[in-house]
Amino acid sequence: MKTSTKTLYAQLQQHQKTMKTLSLRRLFEDDSHRNDRFSAETSGIYFDYSKNHINSETLKLLCKFAEHRKLSQAMSDLLSGKHVNNTENRPALHTALRFQGKPKTEQEFMVAEAKKKMSRLVNSIETQQWLGFTGKPINTVINIGIGGSDLGPRMITQALSNYKKNVDVKFVANIDGADLCDTLIGADPETTLFIICSKSFTTLETLENAHSAKRWIQQQGCPDKQLKQHFIAISTNLPAAKDFGICDKNILPLWNWVGGRYSLWSTIGLSIALAIGMEHFEELLLGAHQMDKHYATAPLQNNLPVLAGLLSFWYSQFWGCSSYAVLPYAKRLSKLPTYLQQLDMESLGKNISKDGEPINTPTGTVTWGTEGSNSQHSFHQLLHQGNQLIPIDFIMAKKPMSPLIHQHAYLQACCIGQSQALLKGKTLADAETELRHQGLDEASIKTLAPHKVIIGNKPSNTILIEELSPQNLGSLISFYEHKVYTLGVLLNINPFDQWGVELGKQLSQPTYQAIIGKESNTLWDSSTNSLIKKARS
Ligand code: F6P
Repeated sequence: MKTSTKTLYAQLQQHQKTMKTLSLRRLFEDDSHRNDRFSAETSGIYFDYSKNHINSETLKLLCKFAEHRKLSQAMSDLLSGKHVNNTENRPALHTALRFQGKPKTEQEFMVAEAKKKMSRLVNSIETQQWLGFTGKPINTVINIGIGGSDLGPRMITQALSNYKKNVDVKFVANIDGADLCDTLIGADPETTLFIICSKSFTTLETLENAHSAKRWIQQQGCPDKQLKQHFIAISTNLPAAKDFGICDKNILPLWNWVGGRYSLWSTIGLSIALAIGMEHFEELLLGAHQMDKHYATAPLQNNLPVLAGLLSFWYSQFWGCSSYAVLPYAKRLSKLPTYLQQLDMESLGKNISKDGEPINTPTGTVTWGTEGSNSQHSFHQLLHQGNQLIPIDFIMAKKPMSPLIHQHAYLQACCIGQSQALLKGKTLADAETELRHQGLDEASIKTLAPHKVIIGNKPSNTILIEELSPQNLGSLISFYEHKVYTLGVLLNINPFDQWGVELGKQLSQPTYQAIIGKESNTLWDSSTNSLIKKARS
């Protein structure tokens, strides 16, 4: 760590000691305007971060650290297309995918052209002009892809299922053949179209599933020369897509300046556009663009993604928090935590700095969660009474997502009730009074009351969106993308590469050869050798 970094860390450590003595309860009691001071709103997103272990001094010190890391400059480098992905020597221009108005830059022109082609494809399927090998229109689309070529489109398609058009969109990712086989149960080969989504077109899972899908449709009677009616590819690797047998006309371009986990806004979003219509896909892009504009222009202390990044930095570096939970109180957002796992952990789970120096402080935070209120009946016990400090992002919508209005009020009540319980907790005196009201005798009260104590003082953010619409969802995802970039800058990490995943991929090839009995390696460790032997059966 450089001296000034060390000094600023020391100041924040010292400040943390003070903040630790001030409970969240106390912070709220002492300042009736706390919520006004620690909340902000933009692009359909209201961000309440008042239930955190912070005061204005905390934000001042965190912003000072951000300035030391030249965050504002780094933000404009990202948005202006500088090579922020230094280990791969390229820009990370996912924001160019959602530009609005007339194209100006080279990348925007490419995006505009690709979107025209994408729009034509969507239109021909929607209007039933795209026909399968027996002349029937396509009614089922299966997206074959993994990681960034799956998680975003899968999450959004579910989140916006109430905007569904007349095409059924399904997803296959896993190398486990059960994924493809289960998805193909009941599928009609005459009306099914596969989108092979792979930035690299070299990913094991995607290629194996794509070949199996091709064999399936051939076995179902599709003549080779009509296979083109059932396959679209999205990739940067045109030769590989063509080698697979997909014709030029059916290949949508993708570019190296779009990271896999930032690609849902690109042609990789074709499955989204087919599921909800091109017009709603455009609204998703618009929402993301509005958040980009906010990120680019709002001062650091009012900038939503920056604030979220600073808070995450505060907890991971100074409060020992190694995980954080995302709890969307919206059934349709149940896949958001899984999507955020890749965004957060593939971007920030690194022990080497941008400049190639080892990092000794904690970096990527374990991201996990599921939808509320289900989560309350599985793991909230640990959130309330466990010893770990786990910051939480609660997400809820103002407008109901079903006609059952009273259930929506309960859903909101559950969400708000949980963040309040985490803040307040329950004292021993409160627990005793409660038991006394229930008519328990004093001996039983003494035994039981300690078990009912909840220390509280647990931090959370609440993100309130107006309604779960394409535009607001676009803003929400863009908010998280920029939060991750902010953290990358604060931690001095390149959030756009993922070298860590390579070794496992490399080792799976010789291991596969050994399992199918073609090659064994006595130099491998005894555990690996024995597992291979047993797996062979
Ligand atoms: O294994 C990691 C990864 O490279 C991700 O970053 C990426 O989203 C995923 O694999 C899929 O890659 P592709 O789109 O090239 O098939």
